[in-house]
Amino acid sequence: MAASTYKHLVIFASGSGSNAQRLMEYFKDHPVIRVVALFSNNPAAYALERAWQFGVPAHLFNREAFRDGTVLRQVQEYQPDLIVLAGFLWLMPAGFVQAFPRQIINIHPALLPKFGGKGMHGQHVHTAVLANQEKESGITIHYVNEHYDQGAILYQHSCPVESQDTPDLLAKRVLALEHTYLPRVVEELLSGKK
Ligand code: GRF
Repeated sequence: MAASTYKHLVIFASGSGSNAQRLMEYFKDHPVIRVVALFSNNPAAYALERAWQFGVPAHLFNREAFRDGTVLRQVQEYQPDLIVLAGFLWLMPAGFVQAFPRQIINIHPALLPKFGGKGMHGQHVHTAVLANQEKESGITIHYVNEHYDQGAILYQHSCPVESQDTPDLLAKRVLALEHTYLPRVVEELLSGKK
């Protein structure tokens, strides 16, 4: 199959990038799908290093380039079929969202619509889940619109919250779910099964 006939996946990541790594591993030799680029707003993001290790082109950008359409044009050059926000912390500009209708998804480490919105990321989410004495948490994969964590939900998977949980313990359990299910949901979306 010629490279251009693959479905193109573009990843945005701001931090460690363990989900980005899972996607790059999962689709490395995939018959239909390839990760074609990773974009990050954070020069210290380990996600950039992971992309280099996989030979995936990595782009670092600042707020100005994000707002003035430079990043949008760079992403368009990759002709993405799907854009995955995997631990990406900035709100997508309206123009960017409109350029890729139903082609941007996000993974969130809780069961939306609870525990979402601005500031609800990383340990903040798990701390809030524990403070609220929830019996379960989990992951949500959803389409991205102009508001934090509000697009239509595509997939959720839950896990128990244990009585002795700390934010770290819960984060590990949730992250394991992300690593298992994000690649599968992306694969189903890009294979037209979802
Ligand atoms: C994940 O928990 C994801 O749900 C959230 O940010 C975290 C990213 O982890 N949006 P990593 O950078 O993929 O390791």
